[in-house]
Amino acid sequence: MAEVVIVRDADEAGEIAADMIEALVRRNPDVVLGLATGSTPLTTWASLAGRGLDFSRARGFVLDEYVGLEPGHPESYRSVIDRELVIPLGFSPELVHVPGENGTIETAGEDYENAIERAGGVDMQLLGIGRTGHIGFNEPGSSLASRTRVKALAEQTRRDNARFFDSLDDVPTHCITQGLGTIQRARHLLLLAFGEAKARAVAGAVEGAVTASLPASVIQLHEKVTVIVDEGAASGLLHANYYRYARDNRFDWQKG
Ligand code: PGA
Repeated sequence: MAEVVIVRDADEAGEIAADMIEALVRRNPDVVLGLATGSTPLTTWASLAGRGLDFSRARGFVLDEYVGLEPGHPESYRSVIDRELVIPLGFSPELVHVPGENGTIETAGEDYENAIERAGGVDMQLLGIGRTGHIGFNEPGSSLASRTRVKALAEQTRRDNARFFDSLDDVPTHCITQGLGTIQRARHLLLLAFGEAKARAVAGAVEGAVTASLPASVIQLHEKVTVIVDEGAASGLLHANYYRYARDNRFDWQKG
């Protein structure tokens, strides 16, 4: 099952996530990271920024991208990841990939899958979760085995993301996203969620039925998952006390 870590706030979560990423990049400068955009990873990036780490050889594969924004649009996930991660942490831009960037949209999914495979697969995939239960942009109804492909965005997701655009009409209707099957192939999944608005999705993902109706529930089938949530996002979990107990009573060899 997933290791669930319940923390005070997003800053504490960011510290723990950054510790895990730091350990990976110190062990292997050519690490392959699965990257997420959105608000959730921001405290992780902030924590990493003060550590003097060398990310110049690290490879990155972003989960998803809008379809239909003009190149260079400030809210494209290419722009977002450059602004929030690549530039501040010193990644090499050409080693950080976003789906749909090159070639034609018809073959972009397959091209991205091939690129991930050529890199040797993703060592750690960072994940946020949407209120719909999506990871990446895999909305309810997504095949649990899906691969990178073009999808329509759910109305809820467009409304949630409208805060980044001038109006709801400006939010793209489509995206290209790693599939649930793609995400499952990463060697370690690290899912972060903050705030009560995410409580239902988190409870479903960690403790509910594994179902395409709550795409994040696919993580229950993965052998190595860490879920870091604040009290609000944890508030729907039935077994919160058990997770706290298990975390506080790890053997020394289980730590770090
Ligand atoms: P957020 O989005 O990090 O901005 O909350 C997460 C998601 O929709 O996957």
